[in-house]
Amino acid sequence: MSFIRFEHVSKTYRSGQVEVQALKDVSFEVESGEICVIVGQSGAGKTTLLNILGGMDTLTGGTIVMNGQEVSALTNRQRAGYRRTEIGFVFQFYNLIPNLTALENVEIAAQLVKEALPAQEVLERVGLADRMGNFPAQLSGGEQQRVAIARALAKNPRLLLCDEPTGALDYETGKQILALLQEQSRKNGMTVIIITHNSALTAMADRVIQLQSGTVKSVAKNESPVPVEEIEW
Ligand SMILES: Nc1ncnc2c1ncn2[C@@H]1O[C@H](COP(=O)(O)OP(=O)(O)O)[C@@H](O)[C@H]1O
Ligand SMILES: [Mg+2]
Repeated sequence: MSFIRFEHVSKTYRSGQVEVQALKDVSFEVESGEICVIVGQSGAGKTTLLNILGGMDTLTGGTIVMNGQEVSALTNRQRAGYRRTEIGFVFQFYNLIPNLTALENVEIAAQLVKEALPAQEVLERVGLADRMGNFPAQLSGGEQQRVAIARALAKNPRLLLCDEPTGALDYETGKQILALLQEQSRKNGMTVIIITHNSALTAMADRVIQLQSGTVKSVAKNESPVPVEEIEW
């Protein structure tokens, strides 16, 4: 059985008289340990898909299964637990707490789960051994994103969801962040989903899902993913 399965998933946003069909009949599968890149233009439904998979939003129709759990059938309370213990999130703008140090930002997340990894160890893993005592404002964008990745990894999540993780970073820094995500997936067998609008990044993935206007345009398995360092865009 696949690690992640979407079956005929739909999502409609309603505000007053206006309806937006953000996802329409979306079906795909992702295997455990894969790096999956979801690519598509702005407005294609990428964030909606990720938020639903991560338990931050609910779906309108269809079925989602993650690691044997039917995400689409969870109650609000169960969804909060799922989001807290099973999922690590990385966002475009890092979303760190400004008045906590790098170490404290990671420790706070680690407190959410029983089997957390030691915050110091995870910060070392992302290359920030020397910056643990710094506040976010004292770190570069790339360093802040490393803290955000450490924060997600500290929960030892089953699934790491990254929404445009390099969207706010320059070319070289973005590349380093993607290389870090690729390395963490390969070393720890972690399933990682990365959203991007940059189709050059599809070369790094084991699986590429192309979204267009809320529908799946294609799903392709990549038998020979390329190390991020070798990709140019
Ligand atoms: N909370 C919301 N309320 C209403 N419409 C939304 C909401 N979130 C997203 N949308 C709409 O759903 C569509 C898909 O958005 P989104 O998933 O953010 O796309 P992407 O991440 O690919 O840019 C867009 O038309 C967007 O305006
Ligand atoms: Mg988005």
